[in-house]
Amino acid sequence: MVFLPDSRLYLGAEAEVWSGLWMGKPAVRKLRRNRAWRHPDLEKRLGYRRMLSEARILIRIKNSGLPVPAIWDVDLENGRIVMEKIAGRPLIEVLRDQSLTKQQIDKALFNTGASVRLLHRLAVTHGDLSTNNILIDEDFNAALIDFGLSAVEYEVERFGIDLHVMDEILGASHPNIENAIDVFLDGYRQCDAREGPTLELSGGKPPAAKEVIKRLDDVRSRVRYHG
Ligand SMILES: Nc1ncnc2c1ncn2[C@@H]1O[C@H](COP(=O)(O)OP(=O)(O)O)[C@@H](O)[C@H]1O
Ligand SMILES: [Mg+2]
Repeated sequence: MVFLPDSRLYLGAEAEVWSGLWMGKPAVRKLRRNRAWRHPDLEKRLGYRRMLSEARILIRIKNSGLPVPAIWDVDLENGRIVMEKIAGRPLIEVLRDQSLTKQQIDKALFNTGASVRLLHRLAVTHGDLSTNNILIDEDFNAALIDFGLSAVEYEVERFGIDLHVMDEILGASHPNIENAIDVFLDGYRQCDAREGPTLELSGGKPPAAKEVIKRLDDVRSRVRYHG
């Protein structure tokens, strides 16, 4: 792997992420930290499956021009992926930045909604839409990262769950930002208005933005009902 590390960006329970250069280009290397990585039943390991699925899905969607990192090298045996380094900082930091105007914050939320919708239009659910997995650049455009729990999907339910996760996080962690979820959903809805009807893909047709938003309401009332 021709990756030249320079600094560690992140150390979590399951992954370690280094910033550096790959063929002279800004890159990150994500390394799965799992003591049992080299178990003989490698393919059965959850971490292995996640890394494989992350690489597969990112490769599948990158060609569609989505704001996601390009995959440059995959070494499954050692649990390492080298990918394009995305500029920007996590949405969570943007939402906490007191120096930003409400208009700037809204732009980040609106563009996040649009990026999630572009993903959904390709029949892919993210599966882990936390404000740490969305990177916001200087122009407040939103890129998506961390696809270990993503899946190809056609049923409306999992799309609705993606939105519900955002809904919960924005409500619980950022209650001070007025209408945060509505601004996000505006971006989600308007992406369909801009891009036109969802296209028929090889496995079927992903649900339209308005169907997914309707499902979000159903999920919300189910959650309220069951506590
Ligand atoms: N392609 C990337 N470009 C820039 N930063 C990244 C990239 N991938 C990961 N990171 C940084 O590393 C952190 C952890 O990576 P992530 O893929 O979310 O791992 P985990 O599955 O452990 O959450 C991210 O929150 C982000 O700050
Ligand atoms: Mg993450």
